Amino acid sequence: MEITIENLERYYGDRRVLYIEKMEIEKGKITAITGPNGCGKTTLLNIIAGLDREFSGVIKYDGKYLNRETVDKMTIVFQKPYLFRRTVFENIEYPLRIRGINKVNRKPLVVDLAKGLEIENLMGKKAHLLSGGESQKVALARALVFKPELLLLDEPTSNIDPDAINTLEREILKFNKETECTVLIVTHNMEQAKRLGNRIIELSYN
Ligand SMILES: Nc1ncnc2c1ncn2[C@@H]1O[C@H](COP(=O)(O)OP(=O)(O)O)[C@@H](O)[C@H]1O
Ligand SMILES: [Mg+2]
Repeated sequence: MEITIENLERYYGDRRVLYIEKMEIEKGKITAITGPNGCGKTTLLNIIAGLDREFSGVIKYDGKYLNRETVDKMTIVFQKPYLFRRTVFENIEYPLRIRGINKVNRKPLVVDLAKGLEIENLMGKKAHLLSGGESQKVALARALVFKPELLLLDEPTSNIDPDAINTLEREILKFNKETECTVLIVTHNMEQAKRLGNRIIELSYN
């Protein structure tokens, strides 16, 4: 999915926290967004995800305004992932369940992702009892399982160990390559931006 942004502004009270005159996110590529704390990275992702409608300006998705169809094709992974108090398996299969995919077909999709992310051994565990790195992996698996066309990631590897970071990065790259999903990743880490991004955009304060 291609995204074009023009004259995007977001205010809290009379304080402008985000201003983007023009930005194009290329279809099928990984775009990394970096910038200092508080410059509006999370705000931007939430707006693109359709979770924050209190903005002015124009955002188009493949040339169209946000609609039901667009929402169904995209997903966001929050910096602090929100997992249901259910098993890891149930968390990952959830997007398939709400899309009406039957049980027999759901399982292999879940297992395949779990293998890639090295969390097969966690499938029966309650998701709210996992470590930070494990939770991020489950959140990513849940995001990828329905093969989104737009994947929004908000600092998906902050505060997790290097092994888990490697695994997450590898699977993000693999998914992008295999499905040509458009990926927008917010990261503090310039090295990570370089490792993953086909393009790096630096946001600054407004
Ligand atoms: N709900 C809110 N109310 C008031 N100000 C907010 C709110 N959410 C974010 N902000 C402010 O907007 C700015 C951008 O925040 P954010 O997008 O979270 O930055 P980043 O993700 O780049 O660290 C910050 O100055 C933050 O304090
Ligand atoms: Mg943020």
